[in-house]
Amino acid sequence: MAYSSLSTLLLSLLLLSSAVAQPSFRPKALVLPVTKDSSTLQYLTHLNQRTPLVPVSLTLDLGGQFLWVDCDQGYVSSSYSPARCRSAQCSLAGADSCGQCFSAPRPGCNNNTCGLFPANTVTRTATGGELASDVVSIQSTNGENPGRVVSVPKLLFVCGSTFLLEGLASGVKGMAGLGRTRISLPSQFSSSFSFPRKFAICLTSSTRSNGVVFFGDGPYFFLPNTDASESLIYTPLILNPVSTAAVFSQGDASSDYFIGVKSIKINEKRVNINTTLLSIDSEGVGGTKISTVNPYTVLESSIFKAVTEAFAQSLSKIPKVEAVAPFGLCFNSKNISSTRVGPGVPSIDLVLQSESVFWRIFGANSMVQVSDEVLCLGFVDGGVNPRTSIVIGGYQIEDNLLQFDLARSRLGFSSSLLFRQTTCANFNFTSNA
Ligand SMILES: *[C@@H]1O[C@H](CO)[C@@H](O)[C@H](O)[C@H]1NC(C)=O
Ligand SMILES: *[C@@H]1O[C@H](CO)[C@@H](O)[C@H](O)[C@H]1NC(C)=O
Ligand SMILES: *[C@@H]1O[C@H](CO)[C@@H](O)[C@H](O)[C@H]1NC(C)=O
Ligand SMILES: *[C@@H]1O[C@H](CO)[C@@H](O)[C@H](O)[C@H]1NC(C)=O
Repeated sequence: MAYSSLSTLLLSLLLLSSAVAQPSFRPKALVLPVTKDSSTLQYLTHLNQRTPLVPVSLTLDLGGQFLWVDCDQGYVSSSYSPARCRSAQCSLAGADSCGQCFSAPRPGCNNNTCGLFPANTVTRTATGGELASDVVSIQSTNGENPGRVVSVPKLLFVCGSTFLLEGLASGVKGMAGLGRTRISLPSQFSSSFSFPRKFAICLTSSTRSNGVVFFGDGPYFFLPNTDASESLIYTPLILNPVSTAAVFSQGDASSDYFIGVKSIKINEKRVNINTTLLSIDSEGVGGTKISTVNPYTVLESSIFKAVTEAFAQSLSKIPKVEAVAPFGLCFNSKNISSTRVGPGVPSIDLVLQSESVFWRIFGANSMVQVSDEVLCLGFVDGGVNPRTSIVIGGYQIEDNLLQFDLARSRLGFSSSLLFRQTTCANFNFTSNA
């Protein structure tokens, strides 16, 4: 009798737990908060990973190939599972190597596993690491609020090492790669939940509030009531056939997102630059990419010089002050008015596939307040012969929503949300679950 009621109890507990564990709920989109670290200017997010779940702080890497985390220190999880050589996971990841590890087995050190090269893209350092999977849980969203938490039981990532964290913000344990690969976070989330292969980032300029990454399609609402997925301007995403990673194999394409900037205008006047630098050559050199690990836009030297001179010329009546590194052109902020979209300075247009399609950069995204009195043009000199001629950095995309449509290979951009009286810090993170 006692046995039977115990088993009934167990049975009902089992039924209860399976009802909880297998909801029919399928999310249409997912959401992650993103903060800006004031000392490194990196954009940080966190994922809940492992069993038991722990929050793992990560530097956001738009062009990064995959999620990597430090497995050398503090990786404890009963659901960690290394990817065995020649498994479907290794082939999805394009990892053909087969590795041995000559110390005690632990996460990151197992025999007969395939590996990849996790990279710290801030310092451009890389190492070898085991491909593995573990559970990740994340909040779903209807585009207005975060909703129920959902999990991906076997999310692929790569084990990095403790030394690879050098140069990342304090407390960070790895990097969240959103790049163009089959195992980046957007690809894995879309395939796990069968939602559209799209994601969007909206970074905030504030170091005290949250910006946001959405995985999946819109709406993407910002308070009080702006759906930033509406009225986007689209431009093709361009594949750079040659990898831009620190370590890669021959034949690997770049995981970075490139767009086709054809010319640059300041105050609607074309800047004279060498347009050869704007296209990607057969070695993968040149072109324009977007990066969240560069705090400011980096321009190849001759482009930097031309843009800086043209900008100075169009503000010739305003007295310049001594430039503050890393910038090359600064003004007394008292001489510059302010507008809804930041300091009142000439617009900078990145002209795309046709003259009528351009990304217009206003003062809020071009001018950096370096002190009470000094405002600088927020572009930096990338030297001669850089791998990529224009790297659009974090400051220039803050308070703009960028949607990456991987299926259609196009970028949708909102231009400054300040025009619509909202910002990227205005997603309502109060859960409605
Ligand atoms: C891997 O195999 C080698 C050779 O058999 C052995 O010495 C080593 O301890 C093993 N490593 C792990 C992590 O099991
Ligand atoms: C333009 O840039 C290309 C690629 O770096 C270079 O080969 C060429 O000499 C440059 N042209 C001029 C006029 O400077
Ligand atoms: C710039 O600001 C200074 C200090 O406020 C003022 O004396 C000067 O007239 C201003 N110059 C221009 C061109 O606005
Ligand atoms: C944010 O969302 C919560 C939950 O839906 C709602 O109660 C609250 O009113 C929203 N906040 C604002 C400012 O609209």
